[in-house]
Parts: sequence; C-alpha cells; structure tokens
Amino acid sequence: MAAALEIKNLAVVYQGVIQALSSLSLRVPAGSIVALLGANGAGKTTTLKAISGFLPLQDGRITHGTITIGGEDTSALAPHMIVRRGIFHVREGRHVFGEMTVEENLIAATFAQRKSRPRKVAFDEVYGYFPILSQRRGQQAGYLSGGEQQMLAIGRALVADPEMILLDEPSLGLAPLIVRDIFQIVEQINRDKKVSILLVEQNAVIALKYASYGYVIENGRTVLEGSAAELSANEDIQKFYLGVD
Ligand SMILES: Nc1ncnc2c1ncn2[C@@H]1O[C@H](COP(=O)(O)OP(=O)(O)OP(=O)(O)O)[C@@H](O)[C@H]1O
Ligand SMILES: [Mg+2]
Repeated sequence: MAAALEIKNLAVVYQGVIQALSSLSLRVPAGSIVALLGANGAGKTTTLKAISGFLPLQDGRITHGTITIGGEDTSALAPHMIVRRGIFHVREGRHVFGEMTVEENLIAATFAQRKSRPRKVAFDEVYGYFPILSQRRGQQAGYLSGGEQQMLAIGRALVADPEMILLDEPSLGLAPLIVRDIFQIVEQINRDKKVSILLVEQNAVIALKYASYGYVIENGRTVLEGSAAELSANEDIQKFYLGVD
C-alpha cells in the first residue's frame, strides 16, 4: 500500500543539546492503523510533534532525516500547513478547552477544516460516533470525565475531517472498559472513513490488538518493527511491554 506518511532516519534536538530522536524511521500506509510503542521518554510524542510541525514551538529542531506526507517533504512546514495536508494531531493529555462547552470545543476545531462543510453535518458525525457528547453538548468540557474528554479530543479531529490522525496515548489514565470503547470507535472511524491512524501507546496490549503493524522505539531510535502478530509473539515485547514473565 502507498505510504501516506514516511519518516526516514529522523533526528530531533531540543534546546540545541537534548537529543530526543537520533534515528527514527517508520511508515504509515494509507488507511492503516500503525502503533508506535516505547517506554517513557523514548521519543514517541516527539515523533508526533515532528510530524505535525509543533517542534519549533518548544525549541525543538529536526537536525537530520526526512518526513514525507503523500510523497511531499513536509519537515519544514508550520502546523497550519500540516493540518491542511490532512494530518490532525490529538495531543497527549487531551487538551480540551475546559472553560468552553463541548460544542464550543467542536466549533473551535472548524478552523482546521480543509473543505468547508456545514457545522451541523460535522457535529452530527461526531455525535454519531460519540452519543454521550451529544448529551453533554452544552456542558463545560472541564467537567467531563477523562474518557469523555478523550472522546471530545477525537471528536475535534473528526470535525477537521482529516486523512490521518496522530493519536497520542488515548488510554492514559482511563479504565479498561472505557479504553476498549474508545478503541472500538477509533477502529470504526478508520474503517468507515479510511482515516489512517498513527497510534502512540504505552499500553502495547491494546495497541497491538487494533493496529496492523507496529514499531518499537528506544532512546529515540526504531529498534523493532513488524506486524501486530509478530510483535505480540516477540519475547522481548512480551517481557517489557506485555508483562509476561
Ligand atoms: N520540550 C522539550 N524540551 C526539552 N526536552 C524535551 C522536551 N520534550 C521532550 N523532551 C525530552 O525528549 C525525550 C523524549 O520525550 P518524549 O516526550 O518524546 O517521550 P515519550 O516517548 O512521548 O514519553 P512518554 O511516554 O513519557 O510520553 C525525553 O528525554 C524528554 O525529556
Ligand atoms: Mg509522550
């Protein structure tokens, strides 16, 4: 399958000295779900920030390597240009606007739409996937549960109608049943809308259940890759990420 996103030998430095990535490579074929696994500090979020153009906002810089989206080198583009190319970054920790209502949060995401479509159509799509958000549409987002905030963060991505969603640790701090619900909906979105998903997770069990392919990074470099079945069967993965003795 054609690669919607391809990263080759990426190196990233923060503040001119902190080497967060040294040689990271991965590809996300169009329409697929690909998992990016790794321990705390491995460089997962940095990889997503490099793709979405957020690095310069945190004094981070790409020093080596390439990022291509649909064959075009996008490594020097600003975030709003990346969004226009159909990539939407759902950040670690959700970052919903807590003082605003659910619906106002969705309205705020309309800036990222590539093609204008009536708000009602976009919002009905979000509410179709996440009916609980419809019930809560007039409530302040800051008072939603963690799971509902994660749904809202993904809902904002849907409003933008992207080709690819970069999803950073959606399971963080959520109860297993909620995590399962959210992943099932993400899978449905992937299937219905052919949206590719680059899924960053520390929870390898759930990530490898929904992804078709995965990469493991350590200290800013890709150390292992394979199909979800291969990675699930890998002894190192079982020991370090799946909690199997
Ligand atoms: N804004 C920043 N300034 C300086 N160093 C940073 C910054 N962001 C991340 N780093 C460093 O870069 C390395 C990779 O961090 P990153 O956030 O990408 O890891 P991660 O794999 O997402 O970890 P986690 O699972 O904890 O979210 C870490 O050593 C981190 O301390
Ligand atoms: Mg992270």
